[in-house]
Amino acid sequence: MDEPDGWSRYNATQVDREPRALVKSMLGHAGDGHGRLAVDLGFGSGVETEALLRRGWCVLAIDADPTAAELLTQRLSEENAARLSILTSDFADIDALSEVDLVHAAWSLPYAGDAFPQLWANLMSALVPGGWIGCELFGDRDTMSSHPRIAAHTEAEARGLLEPLSVVEFDTIEQADMSARGLQHRHVFSVVARRPID
Ligand SMILES: C[S@@+](CC[C@H](N)C(=O)[O-])C[C@H]1O[C@@H](n2cnc3c(N)ncnc32)[C@H](O)[C@@H]1O
Repeated sequence: MDEPDGWSRYNATQVDREPRALVKSMLGHAGDGHGRLAVDLGFGSGVETEALLRRGWCVLAIDADPTAAELLTQRLSEENAARLSILTSDFADIDALSEVDLVHAAWSLPYAGDAFPQLWANLMSALVPGGWIGCELFGDRDTMSSHPRIAAHTEAEARGLLEPLSVVEFDTIEQADMSARGLQHRHVFSVVARRPID
């Protein structure tokens, strides 16, 4: 994230992997889209965006990486591409979102940095009653938490963000992890939650 093309290089390595557990879990809870609208924030190579499209969701896919749109579109059938809109934008530049039924944000929201509070408020306003959100949040003990452009949260803060929602999954990942940056301490909350219908 510190090099200009860092995300492009990372996303190019992700093209052939399986969809992540988070999107599988969300689809298990939310089911087929039947034309409902999902937003995929920081969609990267588009593996999870495609998984949503295959299950009948319309998707607004947002990522600042200028190479991500092509990675995504080149993997799609014509039928799935017809239900996709792509926005190449920094999270900080996203104005209010229209109503959405599902928010998927795998390993991306912490990179909003200072724009995180406004982004989270936008997501909470956009999520319809009965709508689903799944995301990773970085914890305060993660190595990355001291980075000036990362939004990190204590567990109490993370649970506070989720207060308007019914929390269905709140998994804490805390482990040593080897990454491109060397040995890191991972402290991450992986969350699936739903806006109550009432
Ligand atoms: C760790 S990758 C995760 C990609 C994908 N969701 C996945 O699970 O593989 C983070 C993604 O967020 C995007 N990203 C990082 N900072 C961003 C920002 N400030 N605004 C919009 N997108 C951003 C990157 O371009 C990258 O695609």
